[in-house]
Formats: sequence, C-alpha cells, structure tokens
Amino acid sequence: MRNHWSGRLGFILAAVGSAVGLGNIWKFPFITGMNGGGAFVLIYLLAILVCGLPILMAEFTIGRHAQKDVVGSFRELTPKSTFWKNIGWLNLIVSFVILSYYGVVAGWTLDYLAKSLTNSFAGRSSDEIVGMFGALVTNPGEQVLWLTVFMGLCLIAVISGVKNGLERWNKILMPTLFVILAFMAVYAMTTSGAGAGIKFMLYPDFSKLGANGVLEAIGHSFFTLSLAMGAMITYASYMDKNEPIFPVAVRIVFLDTVVAIVAGLAIFPIVFSVDGMKPGAGPGLIFKTLPQVFATIPMGGFLAVLFFILLAFAALSSAISLLEVLTAFMIDEKKMDRKKATALMTVLVYLAGIPSALSYSLLADVKLFNGKAVLDSLDYLASNIGLPVGGLLIAIYTGYILDKKISRAEITEEGRSAIAVFNIWFFTIRYIAPLAVLIVFLNKIGIIKA
Ligand code: PHE
Repeated sequence: MRNHWSGRLGFILAAVGSAVGLGNIWKFPFITGMNGGGAFVLIYLLAILVCGLPILMAEFTIGRHAQKDVVGSFRELTPKSTFWKNIGWLNLIVSFVILSYYGVVAGWTLDYLAKSLTNSFAGRSSDEIVGMFGALVTNPGEQVLWLTVFMGLCLIAVISGVKNGLERWNKILMPTLFVILAFMAVYAMTTSGAGAGIKFMLYPDFSKLGANGVLEAIGHSFFTLSLAMGAMITYASYMDKNEPIFPVAVRIVFLDTVVAIVAGLAIFPIVFSVDGMKPGAGPGLIFKTLPQVFATIPMGGFLAVLFFILLAFAALSSAISLLEVLTAFMIDEKKMDRKKATALMTVLVYLAGIPSALSYSLLADVKLFNGKAVLDSLDYLASNIGLPVGGLLIAIYTGYILDKKISRAEITEEGRSAIAVFNIWFFTIRYIAPLAVLIVFLNKIGIIKA
C-alpha cells in the first residue's frame, strides 16, 4: 500500500512547508508595500479565494484520487485522452527547473546564515554590507559550495520517505519558523518603526492599486500555494481517504496567508526603525537592506541569526516538496526504490543547478532571454510561463475533462459533507479561475498590457 501521512497535522504541516517559502517572507511583503498596502491585501485575499484555493482543491482532488505521482495521476484519471493524460509532464518539468535555481537562491540564505552566526555584519559600513552580496554571487566556488550543501539537506530529508523524512522534517521546520516569526513580529512592534511599518503594510491606499497590482495578486496566489508544480498533487497522493479536502485546504491557505502578512509586519517596522532606510526592491530587501539594519539595531546580531534561520527553513521545506515530486515520479513510474530515486534526482537537479550557480560569475556573459542571466531566465520561463499555463490546464482539466463524479466524491467526502461547497468550487474552477489565470498569463507574456 502507498505510504501515507500519519495524520492530518502531518499533511497540513508538510503542505504549509511547501507553500511557505521565499514568496511569503520576501516577495509578499514587498509587493504589498508597492501596491497600496491594505488595498493590495484585500485584492490578494480575493485572488486566493477565487483562484488559489479552488486550484489547490483541484490538485488535492487529482492527487488524492489517483494516489500516484504527478505524471501518473493524470494518466490514471483520464487514460483515454492523449493530450490530457500527459499534462503532468509540464508540472514535472516546471518543478525540476524551479528546484534547480531555487537551490542557488536558498544557498544564499545559508551563506547569510553563516555570516550572521559569525557576526559578520556588526561594525561594517553600509557599503561594505551591500558589497557582500555582490561578492557572494560573483564567487563561483562559494555558489557551488552552498548549492551542494543545500541539495544535500534536501536529499537527507526526502530519502527517508513520507513519514520519517518529509513529515518529520516539516514537523521541526514549520513550528520553529512560526515561533521565530512571532518573536520577530513582537519585537518589531516595540521598535520606533512600528507605526511606519504597519502603515506601509496595511494602510489601504487604493490610489496605488492599479491593474498591475491585481494581476500580481492573482499570479502570486498560485505561486505562494506551490500550485502547478506537482507539489500539492504529490503531497495529496499521500493523503488519507478520510481527510476532508475543503477544511484542510482552508487551513493551509490560512496559515500561508498569515505567515505572509506577519512577515511584512515583522520586516518593515525593523527597516523603518533605522533613519534613512528604505525597503528596497528585489533580492536587495533581504540581502542588502536587512543586514544593514541588523548591523545597527540593538540585538541585531541575534535577530540576524533568527531571520536567516527563518529564511533557510522556509526555503528548505519548499525545496523538499519539489524534490519529492521528482522522486515520487521515479518511484511510481520507473519502479525505482526510494533511496535510488532520491539520489538520482538530487544529482540531476544539482547538475542542472550549476549553470544557475555560475550565472553571475563564470557564465556572466551568457544571456538567454531578453538579456537575462541564466538564473533569471529560468525563473522567467518557469514562473511566468510554466506556472500560469500549468494552472490554467489544471483548472480546465478538473472543470471540464475529469469525470465530475470523481471530483464530487472527493470534495464532498463521498457525500458526507455539504454539496454546496462542491457546487461553488465547481463553478469557480470552470468559469472564474481559468479566466483569471488566462488574463495573468497573457499579461506576463506581453499580449495584453495592464
Ligand atoms: N510556495 C513557495 C513560495 O511561496 C514557492 C515554491 C514552492 C518555490 C516550492 C519553490 C518550491 O515561496
């Protein structure tokens, strides 16, 4: 019999582990601040309700019913259709590509954790601290070293299987992450930047919310829930038949959203507590601005250690969900045993990650898309094309292709829970979610302008 989670908590923590990643702790606070604070939070909540949550439930339906890896699941559920039975491949490829460069970025968090443990920010000037980031990414040896360490950790987590590996790791990583985040948020409220930080995150300024912000909210709603990369389908394939899909999905979405909002409430007050600091854009916020802040504030050294543990844990629990997608594929489709499958996939992803690790050093002259470096090009391809296309296909698949009896049975627990939830879900997944995702996609590839 297929391995299952030991219970609901194990599944929820693993799924939250996948969902809570750099997207929550770095990206969400930043895009919120840029797009009108509370106004953006409202739109984002709406996007989660009409897009993220329904597609998450669709992935749970597919994985739980099929009890297979992502490629096998679609084949199992619709064996006769040549096109639809193959869409799992897209998810599989996207998860491979994302993991290959995610490991590099996760490696940066490990390097910064090491820097904070050795108290390297204290007493440095702002320019020196900003320079550290450039020095790291242009150093090929260090880049490959941290990628190796990070992929090694992923290997150890995944090789021991569902209960002893994934579940056990997430049961340590996630509660630790919640505690650190709560501590930092409480600390943030005691700083002089509390008022300005809360205002930046939550004050609804509708004049700053445009069509772009709305599209950003929809796109982020499925990136942050790890949708369209096979992760949630694979995790749901280890879910017990008796677990109710809707309440479990709601808890996951709730925790993911709370972490994102609290992360902003922890980060911005701390940034604003230092005169003249501005929340920068891009990786700069985490790797350049925050370390300068940590270098000046009381307890900064300690907070830096906590913060980079938080980031590394968030990255690790997300990355292992992607490695599990690939490992489950080798186990189910190629009949490999777990140890071999994990080792093989880790090595393949690691090798594929090396060009990304060298993006800003040895391969700095290689430009793939619109003059972007290797890592940025892969991110562009996967996030802007792979994820929306994958999300769209999954919405259409569950809305129109998959036998309605299957989704009804899964979402109503064989008729034990309210049919209204199913009816609302079915309407959303047929008419609203695909349209929303399609508009985001056409915008990302530049066919429609916001
Ligand atoms: N959900 C993750 C986030 O918010 C996205 C992700 C998941 C990225 C798995 C990589 C791997 O950051």
